[in-house]
Amino acid sequence: MINQLEEIKSRAQVELGQITDTTGLENWRVRYLGKKSDLTLVLRGLADLSIEEKKSVGMAANQLKLLLEDRFKEREKVLQEIRILASASKESVDITLPGRRPPIGHLHPITQTIEEICDIFSSMGFQIMDGPEVELEFYNFDALNISEGHPSRDNMSSSWIDYTDETGKRPMLLRTHCTSNSARAIAKLKPPVRVLTPGKVYRYEASDATHTSMFHQFDGIAVDKHITMADLKGTLFEFVQRFFGENRKARFRCDFFPFVEPGVELAIECAVCKGSGCSLCHNSGWIEVGGAGMSLDPTEYQSFAFGIGIERLPMLRYGIDDIRLFYGGDLRFLRQF
Ligand code: DAH
Repeated sequence: MINQLEEIKSRAQVELGQITDTTGLENWRVRYLGKKSDLTLVLRGLADLSIEEKKSVGMAANQLKLLLEDRFKEREKVLQEIRILASASKESVDITLPGRRPPIGHLHPITQTIEEICDIFSSMGFQIMDGPEVELEFYNFDALNISEGHPSRDNMSSSWIDYTDETGKRPMLLRTHCTSNSARAIAKLKPPVRVLTPGKVYRYEASDATHTSMFHQFDGIAVDKHITMADLKGTLFEFVQRFFGENRKARFRCDFFPFVEPGVELAIECAVCKGSGCSLCHNSGWIEVGGAGMSLDPTEYQSFAFGIGIERLPMLRYGIDDIRLFYGGDLRFLRQF
């Protein structure tokens, strides 16, 4: 019988250590301390024993009962503590964990390009200025020698806005080029002037791989005495080499713009074929990036001006074949810059 008690003792303790919830604990209590428990059965069997044996087995059985009751209370307390800790950890913040990094974005590739362009021209003495995107017809066209009915208004047709002020109706439009900013700059500033105006421009145009109805340009104007076309060429070729690298060739060819005389087209050597001819450059080896020329009355002051499309520059640098990628909002594309 003593052996039986030993066996109950170790079995009861092993089982108790594995209990993790109150139902398990209650079942254990019934099994080991209840009226029909193994221990009760042992105690009932005492009747058949001699007085001596009754004494020793009875004492051992009572000790076991007390021990199991103690163990029961201990386990009950432990389970209660576990429950309190678990509910507290649900609400509290573990300050020892590393922090979660908030996703930090970066500048759009076009903004990055604009900043780079501004750096290059600032270092050549240009100040950076801004102008309105909703522009008066005057600065966008008339001041630039593009009078009503001029054919170059056609391919620049934009979105017009009816605007009336105290002087009457004044037609306005989404500017079609940043040259309107240069017109504003020379109307406002006294020479010598060197101004660069980057920004958004709008054209009434269907979009495809090389066109969007909104894109970016930068326009520049320099006004001073003794300015020549060599200054214009030197400035733009320097820009091309600073932006694309020293070995990239640039080219001027005659072109017409109503506000400059003489006018030129600026092209750079094709990045893909390095000048030998491919589908990107339509087999010419060159890619046109903008226009430029001399302006103003040449007798006292001379001036050069230029206007260059921005999107094409990172497209040529990185080999991007569709301008719409810049404005599609696809992070897989944008994250690469
Ligand atoms: N504004 C012209 C365009 O959008 C580009 C241009 C050509 C700007 C010659 C200039 C310039 O300042 O001198 O096509």
